[in-house]
Amino acid sequence: MEKRKPRPPSAEQLIQYALKVKDIPIDTTSAGNPVDSETDIKTIGPHGPVPLEDTIYLDKVFHFTGERNPERVVHAKGGGAFGYFEVTHDISHLCRAAIFSEVGKQTPVAARFSTVWGERGSADTNRDPRGFAIKFYTEEGNWDLVGNNTPIFFVRDAFRFPHFIHSQKRNPVTHLRDWDAFWDFISLLPETTHQVMILFSDRGIPDGFRHMHGYGSHTFKLVNRERQPVYCKFHFRTDQGIKNLSAQTAQKLGGTNPDYAIQDLYDNIAKGNFPSWTFYIQVMSFEQAETYKWNPFDVTKIWPQSDFPLIPVGHMVLDKNPGNHFAEIEQLAFNPNNLIPGVEPTPDKMLQGRLHSYLDTHIHRLGPTTTKSPLIARTESELLIISGMLLWLLTIRMGRPTITLTVSRGRSPRLMEPGLRMMPREMSRDIRLKGEDNFSQPRILWSSVLDDAARDRMTTNIASVLKLAAPFIQERTVKMFSQVHPDFGARLRKKLPHFQESSEE
Ligand code: HEM
Repeated sequence: MEKRKPRPPSAEQLIQYALKVKDIPIDTTSAGNPVDSETDIKTIGPHGPVPLEDTIYLDKVFHFTGERNPERVVHAKGGGAFGYFEVTHDISHLCRAAIFSEVGKQTPVAARFSTVWGERGSADTNRDPRGFAIKFYTEEGNWDLVGNNTPIFFVRDAFRFPHFIHSQKRNPVTHLRDWDAFWDFISLLPETTHQVMILFSDRGIPDGFRHMHGYGSHTFKLVNRERQPVYCKFHFRTDQGIKNLSAQTAQKLGGTNPDYAIQDLYDNIAKGNFPSWTFYIQVMSFEQAETYKWNPFDVTKIWPQSDFPLIPVGHMVLDKNPGNHFAEIEQLAFNPNNLIPGVEPTPDKMLQGRLHSYLDTHIHRLGPTTTKSPLIARTESELLIISGMLLWLLTIRMGRPTITLTVSRGRSPRLMEPGLRMMPREMSRDIRLKGEDNFSQPRILWSSVLDDAARDRMTTNIASVLKLAAPFIQERTVKMFSQVHPDFGARLRKKLPHFQESSEE
């Protein structure tokens, strides 16, 4: 007889629950009143109509029909866990934030990893960047680092973000993904080249959430106790090592286990195999920023480590699964505007464009006071919200309805941080920064980072979906990649049936 393979912890969850609960609990209404049946509706006579008096059924069904909240407009599919961040190296000379105040200090964290374009039920093995969102519960309030598994992004201007996302979401007429929309957008905006290359490279499909790095992606500002600022990038490097899925394996898993990444995270934490990441920063002085060859606030570019080495800071360990995914992960509301004294935004146009978007979407997705739920706000706040749906007394100090008592205390330290020297005063809405260099870093990626086999896999991956776009879009896209390297364009031409057919004519 074939020996039964042990099941993973995620499959055993219900059995373990049943073993733990000795007495079957008495079912109750939402108010805690015992009920006589959880299965049978009340009728007048054995086959008669249902009286309105069956409030037990109404209690059940009204909760059921309201079970769904709107999904995140992007990053809808994801999984998360809890743990801690520990400082291993002193950076207090660079940043005054209390979280970094001493070596050995631990701060609780919540993490959520996600894919971007797919809906809440889509496969988490899709080719897509992975969201890498960390909420540090510091004594100075929450610090949310809401980044991705890539150090860069597709576009450098927030105005282009909704268009970019729409190019990947379902076509509103056909309700299908539309490769014309995607490649049209990409080939008209050459700043996307760098990130598109990463997306179609081996790193485009990480093997679960544990085997990928995470990045703050944007340029932030650190400020120390003397109010001296530096620019900064944040990096989480996986201690599990980088592992990716091949396009074929990912496609297969998309059919057999579309929750592969969520399950991998859950099972490993349940088994005590806690994933961890080492946390680094890169720093750039204001003087360096003014003369550096690339715009330091352009999120389509990396800061090469040869110029700005990684400085170790600490590590993050995830050691606790959520008790209820909806309550603890789905309702986690990450917001890049949640910053602590010592960490500030910069003129990075994408970051600027994000600072307002998240609170707005949280109010739509979760309600106006949800950011005050005990799961999100672990420190008391002085926000002076006094009422509203789902207000949680735990995390708000009640007793002062207005600001009257605070005016004499002066402004918060965050408002007094040094100003920026690099900001010109004129307003501008430059669609394309003149002379912006879109191809040098992609060229380095092509020539010096990828080996020949990796170039081959990347061009095969691109061709597999570029071939679905209209011929003129294919031509424009190949022209764009040829500007990275002629060999890049040549390989694509060979792999695209459209070019083979036109050369035969
Ligand atoms: C989620 C907007 C750029 C990373 C979201 C959500 C919105 C949004 C509305 C859903 C949030 C929620 O419902 O809780 C925007 C806008 C952007 C932008 C307007 C540009 C102007 C970026 C960039 C990154 C990023 C550049 C990464 C570098 C994330 C992540 C999440 C997210 C990781 C998921 C957070 C979670 O796990 O709950 N974004 N985003 N976004 N965004 Fe952005």
